[in-house]
Amino acid sequence: MKAALFERIGKSPAVVVVPDPVAGDGDVVVDVVAAPVLAYAHEVLSGERPMLFELPFVPGTGAIGRVSVVGPDATELKVGDWVYCDPTIRARDSQGLPAIALQGLTANGPTALPLQRQYRNGSWAERLRLPLENVVPIGDIDADDAGRWLTLGTMLVPYGGLSSVGLTAGETVVVNGSTGAFGSAAVAVALAMGAAGVVATGRNEAVLDALVAKGSGRVRPARMTGDQDADTAAIRTAARGPIDVVFDILPPQASEAQVLAAIRSVRPGGRISLMGGVGMGGGGELVFPYPWLMRNNITIKGQWMYPRDAVGRLVALARSGVLDLHRYEVSEFPLDALAEAIDNAAATAGPFARTVLRI
Ligand SMILES: NC(=O)c1ccc[n+]([C@@H]2O[C@H](COP(=O)([O-])OP(=O)(O)OC[C@H]3O[C@@H](n4cnc5c(N)ncnc54)[C@H](OP(=O)(O)O)[C@@H]3O)[C@@H](O)[C@H]2O)c1
Repeated sequence: MKAALFERIGKSPAVVVVPDPVAGDGDVVVDVVAAPVLAYAHEVLSGERPMLFELPFVPGTGAIGRVSVVGPDATELKVGDWVYCDPTIRARDSQGLPAIALQGLTANGPTALPLQRQYRNGSWAERLRLPLENVVPIGDIDADDAGRWLTLGTMLVPYGGLSSVGLTAGETVVVNGSTGAFGSAAVAVALAMGAAGVVATGRNEAVLDALVAKGSGRVRPARMTGDQDADTAAIRTAARGPIDVVFDILPPQASEAQVLAAIRSVRPGGRISLMGGVGMGGGGELVFPYPWLMRNNITIKGQWMYPRDAVGRLVALARSGVLDLHRYEVSEFPLDALAEAIDNAAATAGPFARTVLRI
């Protein structure tokens, strides 16, 4: 089969012919139809964004495709099924929080390296082998929509955080960092989960306006100024009532004060989901006032990625039409135009944009 092989940091992957993957016990092989290209793929390949992996491997995190081979222990998956391939490879022998490797990208720590080694090859290829439990049927789809279904991969991230703090229909949620790729997805997911109000924070007024326009009257903007108290007040004003949940997905460049501005707006008894990268580039610590947390019964929950059962539930929301996959502008490229696809992904990074290899 044809695949893009990443052999050395700083050397762009070349499309070459490699042996077809072979499904072992507990595996599935999928014919890839659409594979995502991350906005920061060029940074991973150049080494600018350090990741933990062993080379060589085929990049590509997740896919939409059709099952071509199932292992002997498959009970429901059938050859020909349209599936979402979840790149979140979890340790099967863990009794606690499992180590995770993101297939075709990275291990989340040294304990996940055996997973990265075993399922090292991702979806920039004609075929993809992955664990049975990572392959989720999506029902029949039009092949032309395969790239659109890949947007589930972006939306699963905020779905993990919003679910982890139990966002319920009728509640009001603040999405802090709403103008980014994952933040805008969080707004869409919160609406699909039935939020009565979504306060979208950010500095980029054009994107805030676009989120409001697509928000069915439930999205209200709060433009951030960098003045913590003024920003908290702006969020409360935009909410027009008590804020049940604050969801933060700000990047490492953002400050702790930007996080606190949103957190401090939550109502007594409120819940806070932290999924961003603040502090990962160094900087100060996030300091929570102990009495404020204690007296107000505040829950704070960190979340990396999402639990396994989230995938099927989000697929169901998309199939029902409640989660609108048509918000996304999908740009498609053939595998042989990989370099152009990588450039396009970087150039179009941001809300509701997806670059896809069509294989
Ligand atoms: N927990 C997980 O499982 C998980 C998974 C994936 C990603 N993440 C995290 O999600 C973060 C956001 O990713 P993304 O792709 O959505 O990022 P992004 O597209 O770059 O968006 C980040 C947003 O943050 C806002 N921002 C506020 N202060 C900023 C500053 N000082 N510099 C730059 N932007 C600033 C920007 O909006 P305004 O300009 O409008 O303010 C921007 O739209 C990542 O950094 C990563 O750490 C977490």
